[in-house]
Amino acid sequence: MLSRDSHGRALVAGRLLTDILVEAGAETPAYVYDLGAMAREARELILAFGDQPQLVAYAVKANSAGAVIRTLGAAGCGAEVGSGAELELALRAGIEPARLLLSGMGKSALSIDAALMAGDRGILAIQVDSVDELARIANRARTLGRPGRVALRLNPGVMAETHEAIATGHDDAKFGIAMRDLDAAFEALDREGAALQLVGIGGHVGSQLVRTDDYLEGARAVLGVAVTRPGLELVDFGGGFGIDYGDGCAVRPADFARAASKLAREALPGVTLVVEPGRSLVGPHGILVASQVATKQSGARRWLVLDTGMTDLLRPALYGARHRIEALLAAPEPNALSWRVVGPVCESTDDFGEFALGEPPPRQVVIRDAGAYGYTMASHYNGRGYPTEVFVHEDGRVTTSRANSATSWVDARSAT
Ligand SMILES: Cc1ncc(COP(=O)(O)O)c(C=O)c1O
Repeated sequence: MLSRDSHGRALVAGRLLTDILVEAGAETPAYVYDLGAMAREARELILAFGDQPQLVAYAVKANSAGAVIRTLGAAGCGAEVGSGAELELALRAGIEPARLLLSGMGKSALSIDAALMAGDRGILAIQVDSVDELARIANRARTLGRPGRVALRLNPGVMAETHEAIATGHDDAKFGIAMRDLDAAFEALDREGAALQLVGIGGHVGSQLVRTDDYLEGARAVLGVAVTRPGLELVDFGGGFGIDYGDGCAVRPADFARAASKLAREALPGVTLVVEPGRSLVGPHGILVASQVATKQSGARRWLVLDTGMTDLLRPALYGARHRIEALLAAPEPNALSWRVVGPVCESTDDFGEFALGEPPPRQVVIRDAGAYGYTMASHYNGRGYPTEVFVHEDGRVTTSRANSATSWVDARSAT
């Protein structure tokens, strides 16, 4: 989403980023999102399914801003949510209950109740993460007098080629029902009788997948089980479509969609294919803008300290993710003097890595591909406020949200 004009200045949605920040009255650190690009991303993905009945359920955990969910909903997406709070957000953003799925392990009673009570018959499906969870959902369903529409989330035992922290479908991962526990799950479903209605089978092998093979291996496991249960409404292959963080990603989300549709069509014609992309819909279409706070020469090392860090964008500290960092007002020059770029937070892992930013280093920088798992993972650690968010809408409007400043954090903490 970030391009450059002939002077090298950063553009978002074809407009000067500096103008957008002034219009928003935004100070750094600030996330800036291109909602039009997110909508186009969603439409392109939906088209790739052809005539396969599908539901692209946007994984709200990637970016839970109301404007983002509303945009993707209007572009034709449903939503996959990980809690009752995310469920409420999706409903408020206009996503119909029949286009919502609740995932996650260790769902609270509040989350289960929210899923059961949404709309006239609850949400499309609660994705059951363990055999034990079936009884918990059935109990809530009986108490509330609402049958629980459930889908079993399998752990297909696939070690996807991605960072180990975001591989979720292998034998050692905490997620999903192991294949060898499936019989027990079906027995539990029989025991619960009318309290539970099995509507689907699903799985999610991991995030940031850069080839389709692992995804399809998980999908085959899901289909292998689904074909044994006649009358299912849906199969769910999960999310995980990778994006290019700068080191290349040969597959596009549409490649996953086409391959997944082919498999589903062959095995179970007419069944709805659900996919749950988060990162690929929003990640490339958000940036984080930051300012220089200080430079520091220490031994042979040159540090560039920003006003943003792991409290705003956790991925580098959490699992060594690398986001490209560039000057706001000049196109990158690969051979320029390099700086070790860090945040001000009191952790050694608050470190974005080494970047060729030149001498003197820029006053302001953009951190690319920060639209997913950025703001949603932000924290108040070290008493830091949350970053501002700026939304560039499809019609050119610019809106902004400034939530939870450091001042409100001080008020809240001193009141304890
Ligand atoms: C169950 C489930 N569905 C969907 C997603 C979204 O994954 P991604 O953002 O990689 O598309 C996740 C995140 O890992 C997940 O846990």
